[in-house]
Amino acid sequence: MIPQTFIQDLLNRVDIVDVVGRYVQLKKGGANYMGLCPFHNEKSPSFTVSPTKQFYHCFGCGAHGTAIGFLIEYSGLNFVEAVKDLAQGVGMVVPDDDRLPPAQRAEVQAKSLALSEVMSRAGEFYKQELRTAPQAIAYLKKRGLTGEIAARFGIGYAPSGWDGLRKVFDRYDASELVEAGLLIDRSDEEGGSGKRYDRFRDRIMFPIRNIKGQTIGFGGRVLETGEPKYLNSPETPLFQKGQELYGLFEARQVIREAGYVLVTEGYMDVVALAQLGFPQAVATLGTACTPTHVQKLLRQTDHVIFSFDGDAAGRRAARRALEACLPHAGDDKTLKFLFLPPEHDPDSYVREFGAQAFEQQVRDAMPLSQFLLREVTQDNDLATSEGRARTQFDAKPLLQAMPPSALRLQIVRSLAQVTQTTASEIEALFELSQPVARVRVAPPKAKRTAPMGLERQMIRLLVTYPQLAAMLDHEALSAAEQLAPDNAEMLKQLVQACVALGENANFAALAEQLRTQNADFDPLIAEIAAESDADPEAARLELAGAVRQTKMQVVKAEMDRLAAGGLATDEMRQRYRELMQRQEQLRRQAEVETLPK
Ligand code: GTP
Ligand code: MN
Repeated sequence: MIPQTFIQDLLNRVDIVDVVGRYVQLKKGGANYMGLCPFHNEKSPSFTVSPTKQFYHCFGCGAHGTAIGFLIEYSGLNFVEAVKDLAQGVGMVVPDDDRLPPAQRAEVQAKSLALSEVMSRAGEFYKQELRTAPQAIAYLKKRGLTGEIAARFGIGYAPSGWDGLRKVFDRYDASELVEAGLLIDRSDEEGGSGKRYDRFRDRIMFPIRNIKGQTIGFGGRVLETGEPKYLNSPETPLFQKGQELYGLFEARQVIREAGYVLVTEGYMDVVALAQLGFPQAVATLGTACTPTHVQKLLRQTDHVIFSFDGDAAGRRAARRALEACLPHAGDDKTLKFLFLPPEHDPDSYVREFGAQAFEQQVRDAMPLSQFLLREVTQDNDLATSEGRARTQFDAKPLLQAMPPSALRLQIVRSLAQVTQTTASEIEALFELSQPVARVRVAPPKAKRTAPMGLERQMIRLLVTYPQLAAMLDHEALSAAEQLAPDNAEMLKQLVQACVALGENANFAALAEQLRTQNADFDPLIAEIAAESDADPEAARLELAGAVRQTKMQVVKAEMDRLAAGGLATDEMRQRYRELMQRQEQLRRQAEVETLPK
């Protein structure tokens, strides 16, 4: 865990306008900066970046967040990576994972640095070697690749000797070379004392890069035929097959332009498709598609098309991909499945039938709902009760894996139809969380202009201007508690968060902190992000007014209660006088407050 205080310092140090400006062309417009939203397709700018709030917001698609959030969404980095990236830019050092003792932490860091250094040097070496390897060049040419594409993907050649990497690394016995998976070490085995050799020999080398462009692994293909056809880097601290996608780094930008990503099964498919007009392709690394893959893809685009061979192996792979997709399926995502004729992969298909035919295949890809229904119905006889029951049985785990959504309801409806039941019956039978079919339509949301309780008003002002938190003293908080216990709890949390931020309190820092603390704040943050910046002085006055009115209301309520009781005792009369004085104080305060500070 990176400490919150560090996140706050960081958000105060970086300027979101610079961060976003690296990727999006921004123009000054009033107090804000405007540009074309990188998160949806648009022709006129509705994406704004506020330097005061240190927040971005798109009026078109509703995307919003801090500089950290932007990097996560835009580059597909995870939280820690995004924080590190930003920190590096402003010369801050991220206090690392505090679960590990510092010494060990430094060691882990040093190791991963050493490994990535080794990988990138090896990659350079393989690229150099390709230039002087006519047989490898001939093979790539035969597969129809140009030098330009080979260069774009950093394709290289591992020479055929046992220790080619000696040329690059002075210390062939360095432990990193084995740990990075570049060398195989047999010295532990019987009779193999001290025997080390290059893992990749006489192979076409495909560097596998992470989303930041660092080489983290290799895939090596034999020239012509031989076993194994592909040799991949083993899993290392840098490289986990189930998480990486070949070509994602290279395709990142085009995926946004094309509006979708095409997921294939092979290195060659990615490279060949890029050559033949489909640069938005990536590939899994010889493993089944995992939910992590799907999540990574959905960070880049909301439209994913998986391509599979039409044969049995392709069908099995497609089924795995379907399962990986289900937890992420939703109404704003398009997930499709493309089945090529048996014996074809995308590379061979495009070469045989042309780019247009493939384009048509992409257009005709099968939506997830249809594929799911086909999967559960095709082996069962729907004309019999048993067949229909079996269909439901097969569908149950799949639907249970889906979050509640309109899409899920649609699938449930179709399933109900073919199995002669109703949607509600299926939802009940499957014990679906938050059944959609029976949920009543929510009443329309109250308009923003509707009169707002004082506590809501205070919450809203504080989120926008956290530096004003000190205005909410103990009296104000306990008054709020008496008036509206629900909102008061939120208010208390908010004040605590603001106070914890101290002088670093600004909208972005607070939003980042609240995001992890309480999801109830999310809609409010989104709303405020969309507002134009008000004058902080006006906000101070408004807040002072709301605080005062809250206190007044409580004083007034107690006075009313006492009066209703007839002020029977001395004590009551005494208390009444105190309250009157307090009321007068608050009134006078109001006059002072309205003076400019
Ligand atoms: P070409 O045959 O050159 O067109 O390659 P391809 O990329 O089309 O490969 P293929 O469809 O045969 O296999 C798909 C993917 O599975 C490859 O890109 C590799 O990631 C993986 N793969 C294929 N063969 C092997 C193998 O022998 N060993 C390992 N570990 N992975 C393999
Ligand atoms: Mn192929």
